[in-house]
Amino acid sequence: MKILVVGGGGREHALVWKLAQSPLVETLYCAPGNPGIARLADCVHIPADDIEALLDFALAEKIDLTVVGPEVPLTLGIVDRFQAAGLEIFGPNQAAARIEGSKSFSKDLMAKYAIPTAAYRTFTERDAAVAYIKAQGAPIVVKADGLAAGKGVIVAMSMDQAIAAVDDIMLDKVFGAAGASVVIEEFMEGEEASFFAFTDGRNILPLASSQDHKRAFDNDEGPNTGGMGAYSPAPVVTAALHDEIVATIVKPTIAGMASEGCPYSGILYVGLMIKDGRPRVVEYNARFGDPEAQPLLMRMKSDIVPVLQACARGDLRQDSIKWHDKAAVCVVMASGGYPAAYTKGFEITGLDNVLAMDDVMVFHAGTSLENGRVVNTGGRVLGVTGLGRTVAEAIACAYGAVAKIHWKGVHFRRDIGRKALNR
Ligand code: AMP
Ligand code: GLY
Repeated sequence: MKILVVGGGGREHALVWKLAQSPLVETLYCAPGNPGIARLADCVHIPADDIEALLDFALAEKIDLTVVGPEVPLTLGIVDRFQAAGLEIFGPNQAAARIEGSKSFSKDLMAKYAIPTAAYRTFTERDAAVAYIKAQGAPIVVKADGLAAGKGVIVAMSMDQAIAAVDDIMLDKVFGAAGASVVIEEFMEGEEASFFAFTDGRNILPLASSQDHKRAFDNDEGPNTGGMGAYSPAPVVTAALHDEIVATIVKPTIAGMASEGCPYSGILYVGLMIKDGRPRVVEYNARFGDPEAQPLLMRMKSDIVPVLQACARGDLRQDSIKWHDKAAVCVVMASGGYPAAYTKGFEITGLDNVLAMDDVMVFHAGTSLENGRVVNTGGRVLGVTGLGRTVAEAIACAYGAVAKIHWKGVHFRRDIGRKALNR
């Protein structure tokens, strides 16, 4: 088979790495890819959101299956365009991708199908939103309705901060059209976890548990980021909780999307808040998590190609995935200053020292090649992922590799996975 992966971050490097091991795959392309991906796939210079150029490429190369990593092409309708041209593609269509692309759509879905989540209201007028915040009090959460590159959520600890967030979004339009309406939501306490399930629109195939680390600094302090590290399995998701998540959240979500006339196929990402052993939905995403994909795919033993194909064809019959017994921990190495303005263009040293390490993969996210040297160019630069018999051993393995890699300004958290050890 010829497979095209769309995207160029750590998640797509992990997808390409996993796909490359399938005996079903003859040729792998990635658009646009990155220097790490280029070791495993032919990188094509097409941006992930240039749908017409991607379609032309896929038709010309007779691609058998396209796998979409990021949310933007999904919300722009890449799946609809490829399917209309008779091409097989993994991911939700534009109507179904609203589950991530519109917070009011996803909140209304959860309300209608009694899926546990925070209480909320949607506003299109600033004064009404401010009056609601004053009536509810703080802490309270303000969300731009549309996609805002992961920055549209403000967890406000005071009413003033919440009102300022509404003004930023609705009056100053800091997120552009994504802020034409806002969702104002109850603040939920608890521990977060990420839950993923493959689905063909009817049948579901849950993945192993995982947990992200969203804050920039140790002990979950500092600003929110795209994710500073992840691990799997996550002991906060017990076997009983796994079953409850499937029964009370994943199944009604997939059934609800079908009832709404927009069946969801692809991988569903449910961001959860767990309090006193009960799960509630923080948000949905229409794609694999980044960095959760890195540890999950390193642990996945089953071939991924038949699963992706079955989802794309609406014929998912497989009812379980085989996982390696080992735990996996991914430590994100970021550019100095991230998630604010960051320093870039510095040579990354030590990558070759890590190539020889067993049980370690360095997934590239924000790197470029300049005159034969690998330099940091993105906010999140590398996802250094290690395996171990226990989470503790996987932590030691990943940080052993991190210690060998360096560039000027590099920043990473030193406590990835510690939550699992505290249980
Ligand atoms: P998102 O951009 O939707 O991933 O949200 C970013 C982060 O904001 C989440 O991972 C949570 O840490 C936090 N968050 C979002 N909604 C809530 C909520 N209702 N209560 C508490 N924290 C929240
Ligand atoms: N790990 C957070 C995300 O993929 O959105």
